[in-house]
Amino acid sequence: MTSTAPQHTDVEGVDGGVGLTSLLVAAARAIETRRDDSLAQDTYAEHFVLAAPACADWPVRIQQVPDGDGNPLWGRFARYFGLRTRVLDDFLLQAVRTGTRQVVLLGAGLDTRAFRLDWPSGCAVFEIDRAGVLEFKRRVLTDLAAVPKTARVPVPFDLRADWSGTLTDVGFDPAAPSVWLAEGLLFYLPGPAETNLIDTVDRLASGGSALAFEAKLEKDLLAYRDSPIYTATREQIGIDLLHLFDKGPRPDSAGALAARGWSTSTHTPFEFTRRYCRGPLPEPNDALEGNRWVFAHKPRP
Ligand SMILES: C[S@@+](CC[C@H](N)C(=O)[O-])C[C@H]1O[C@@H](n2cnc3c(N)ncnc32)[C@H](O)[C@@H]1O
Repeated sequence: MTSTAPQHTDVEGVDGGVGLTSLLVAAARAIETRRDDSLAQDTYAEHFVLAAPACADWPVRIQQVPDGDGNPLWGRFARYFGLRTRVLDDFLLQAVRTGTRQVVLLGAGLDTRAFRLDWPSGCAVFEIDRAGVLEFKRRVLTDLAAVPKTARVPVPFDLRADWSGTLTDVGFDPAAPSVWLAEGLLFYLPGPAETNLIDTVDRLASGGSALAFEAKLEKDLLAYRDSPIYTATREQIGIDLLHLFDKGPRPDSAGALAARGWSTSTHTPFEFTRRYCRGPLPEPNDALEGNRWVFAHKPRP
């Protein structure tokens, strides 16, 4: 399973660069879906993997991996994505249970929540990603005749540019509560783009809104270059995550939200592993050591 993916970050679609990471997460969700003790179900995920030439030899179930769960990429890292999917599914569903009807997926990639979760009536799911990724997603879902379970609005846009007017142009209502997700996104963006993203979410989110995002707290990402996860991802599927991550200084986005009155809580993924009794636990030289999942709520006026 060795391949060489184009590593430059400006490839538009899913064939290389950061777009290919959306397929990595899809493959992980496909594997998770078929596990006996699955944490999240995404029956669309394997179809993305099977449709993309860039991952022709990737597995879609753990039985196809010779060393199975012992494989750092398709075992431990894929399980991490499965856990993340479940935790953020629960976060979104909790928000809509309490009345929110607008869902914004930032860097949505091949997320199929609009198709697979049970949404109350009146919801709208906005999916922002780069045009090439959303076009690939459209093609695969159209071939499957997939029908979303709610209103769905794909929004092709590069989040490195100013996107403040983009959502309102397609029907997003800043006066009504919203729930936002930046899952596996922020560390690919330059620091100023992350700052702009948090500013924009704060501006567009009315009181009662919520945001979850994933951050990496490592001071020196390259310290983990030889970790089993980064090594396996590089050597088995040709994705050098450390090359794709932005290396500039990171803003303190949880702190920025707290300074504007949001309540925030920051968790390690391992806390959820213990809660669900499944998922990765800490290990030496761990590329997941600095990963944090942040949950933020904007108080109602
Ligand atoms: C690791 S994938 C995660 C996808 C999805 N959130 C999930 O968890 O399945 C990262 C996604 O961020 C998107 N992305 C990265 N940089 C972006 C940018 N500047 N503008 C829009 N999307 C971006 C990529 O295209 C890719 O789909």
